[in-house]
Amino acid sequence: MKKMRVGILISGRGSNMVSLINAARAPDYPAQIVTVISNRPTAGGLKLANEAGIPTVVIDHKDYATRMAFEAKMHQALLDAGVDIICSAGFMRMLTGGFVDRWKNRQLNIHPSLLPAFPGLDTHERALREGVRIHGCTVHFVRLEMDTGPIVAQAAVAVQPDDTPETLAARVLEAEHALYPHALRLVASGAVRVSEEEIHFAPATDTPAPFFSPPLKP
Ligand code: GRF
Repeated sequence: MKKMRVGILISGRGSNMVSLINAARAPDYPAQIVTVISNRPTAGGLKLANEAGIPTVVIDHKDYATRMAFEAKMHQALLDAGVDIICSAGFMRMLTGGFVDRWKNRQLNIHPSLLPAFPGLDTHERALREGVRIHGCTVHFVRLEMDTGPIVAQAAVAVQPDDTPETLAARVLEAEHALYPHALRLVASGAVRVSEEEIHFAPATDTPAPFFSPPLKP
């Protein structure tokens, strides 16, 4: 099996990055992590990637006069590492159309809400404020507009009556750590492809019955 070569983009603690690195250790996993790139020299994830033996690159956006110059450097680093597909994992820079187009259908992102609900920041606070009973996380292909693009996979998390943004964030994060490796496996194995902005699953997947929040039988 020829494994897909993955470059992970991070800006912070890198817990989703770790979940991908760990999943990719399995011999039958269809992807391997070949580089981790951070735009912040202080990102906690850098140390974790080094400990896991993954080469890291720091490309500090502050060292570049323009967004395009920063992205050109990042693009080159990805090419140098022979990357086939990018996984953004807590990467906190807006990308321009040039970069997004070059990696079209070859860049995934994880977002802590059930998109298209709550794109952007502070998703857990906003979910609680709106009173949604089901929240969660999404892995999607990246498009120019932030937190949009064909959806590969989602995980739902029931909101509990006493949830705070922190408790809800912790449960969603746990779901993220299972979801991202699952979604990357689907893409890297060819079980999912995008055409005309639509996701196609091959073979069609069996999904479990709906769950209710609050439950039907409390
Ligand atoms: C995650 O909640 C992810 O969904 C969002 O940023 C957070 C990154 O956390 N995009 P980590 O760096 O992976 O721990």
